This record gives sequence, structure tokens and C-alpha cells, in this order.
Amino acid sequence: APDIPLANVQAHLEQFQAIATANGGNRAHGRPGYRASLDFVKARLDAAGYRTTVQQFTASGATGYNLIADWPGGNPDDVLMLGGHLDSVSAGPGVNDNGSGSAGILEVALAVAREGFQPQRHLRFGWWGAEELNLVGSTYYVENLPAAERSRIKAYLNFDMIGSPNPGYFVYSASGQPAGSLALQETLQAALAVPTELTSVGGRSDHAAFARAGIPVGGLFTGAEVTKTSAQAQKWGGTAGVAFDRCYHRSCDTTANIDATALDRNSDAIAQALWTLAGAGATPG
Ligand code: PHE
Ligand code: CA
Ligand code: ZN
Ligand code: ZN
Ligand code: ZN
Repeated sequence: APDIPLANVQAHLEQFQAIATANGGNRAHGRPGYRASLDFVKARLDAAGYRTTVQQFTASGATGYNLIADWPGGNPDDVLMLGGHLDSVSAGPGVNDNGSGSAGILEVALAVAREGFQPQRHLRFGWWGAEELNLVGSTYYVENLPAAERSRIKAYLNFDMIGSPNPGYFVYSASGQPAGSLALQETLQAALAVPTELTSVGGRSDHAAFARAGIPVGGLFTGAEVTKTSAQAQKWGGTAGVAFDRCYHRSCDTTANIDATALDRNSDAIAQALWTLAGAGATPG
């Protein structure tokens, strides 16, 4: 797998921050900063050769949007999907939650295009709307997939908060563990160049609808409101007795609220996991 350039991921975060700043300070569902975020990501993917679609839904009286991007090629009956939510809360710009995951998978998608990667499996990426309104966009996507199409998705990896300022390195799966989730968790763990903790985050992010549909899921997470213990600070550095993300769901979740090392390690791990799971395919040319 290629090394994901940290500077590129950071440049995407600067874009999310600028979009929030120009649109009332947030990128929330139903606000102009959300649509501007989606238009930015979509333009980058379109230019790289992805087939993108925008799926509309309604939540709390406002139109919401999911962005789906397919990389042409691969076995259509064996889809590997990666995703994360693109909306912020209305309190702030949501650079860590979840500009970080959105930017990480965007840069990995662009790396797939740069490398001309032609894996055995079909690759699909999703940027979800209205996660902060209780997982509305991802639930809408999964529940409106025709059954035949849903059964083609063999794995879903979720990235929600991967650059927390006082980071932990958590690898999760789903409560209920659909068959195959354990293997995904192990692949993600092996992809991270640091000690990890396996955890279950229940239904707290967009993997939940996929898990309910029986699709194996996994994800990476650097922590939110919970406090880092002294054992964790010894293992990972940072500050014991302080939240993993003191600015979680607050106006201070800006570009200053990112640990660059965590963002780089997790972005590299996403690429590593994707290349491992997608299966070596035909070489380009
Ligand atoms: N989904 C939560 C949010 O967006 C954050 C979270 C991510 C919590 C992953 C647990 C695990 O606010
Ligand atoms: Ca890197
Ligand atoms: Zn959130
Ligand atoms: Zn989130
Ligand atoms: Zn690196």
C-alpha cells in the first residue's frame, strides 16, 4: 500500500475548516456548509475517475445527502466499502468529528486512482449525511439498497474521528459481531503501526446499519469524550486524566484540534487495510 501523504489529508481538513468558516461556522445537516463539503469531495473524486452519485433523503424537515463513489472495475459481487460521516454538529466546524475520517478516506480513494489500483474486489466509498441526527444517512442507504445489491457488500469499514488531539488507537467491530467482523478487526489492527485496543462502540456510528444488515464491519477511532487513563498515556503518549477529544461536539473542533501523528497513522492504516482486503489485481497498463 502507498504511504498516504499527511499534507494531503491536512489540506482536505483546511478545506473543511474554510467551508465552515464561510458558512456560519459549521457543516451541519441542512446547512449550506454541508452541501459545500459534499460538493468539494465529489469534485475531487470525479476528477480522479470515480463514478459518483448523490443520494437524497429527508431528516428533520431538511434535505440530506449521501455521496457514494465507485471505483470502476473489480468483482461486482464482492464489494469492499469504506465510509464515514461528512456532517458536523451545528456547534462547530467538525474538523476531527468527522472531517478527519472524511479526509482520510478521500485521500485513500485518491491514492487508489493515482496508483491505478485494479483490485479483485470492487471498491466503494460512502460519505454519510445526518450522522449527528442519529445515523440517518447511512441507515437510509442500507435500508434502501435492494436485497441483491446489499448482499454484494461483503465488508464495511467505518472511520469516524481519526485525529483526536489526545489520541487513543481503538479498533472496533460491532456488537452482535456479524461473521467476518473479527477478521476485519484483525486486519485493521495489523495495519496500525502502534499498539491498539480492541473495543466495541455499539451503535455509535455509521457501521451500525451495515452490522444490522448482517454485513461484517470494522472501524478505527481515536476517542471522543472519554478520559485517557494513565496506562493509556504510558502506551500512547498524551495526557492522562484528559479527554481524548476535549473539543468533541464543540466550537473548538477546528484544524487546531487534530493530532497530526494520529491522523497520519490512521490514514496510512486505512490504505494498508484497503490494499490487504481488496486483493491484488491486474497491474495497470
Ligand atoms: N459517532 C460519534 C459522533 O459522531 C463519535 C463516535 C465515533 C463514537 C466512533 C464512538 C465511536 O459523535
Ligand atoms: Ca502517511
Ligand atoms: Zn459527532
Ligand atoms: Zn462522528
Ligand atoms: Zn506514515
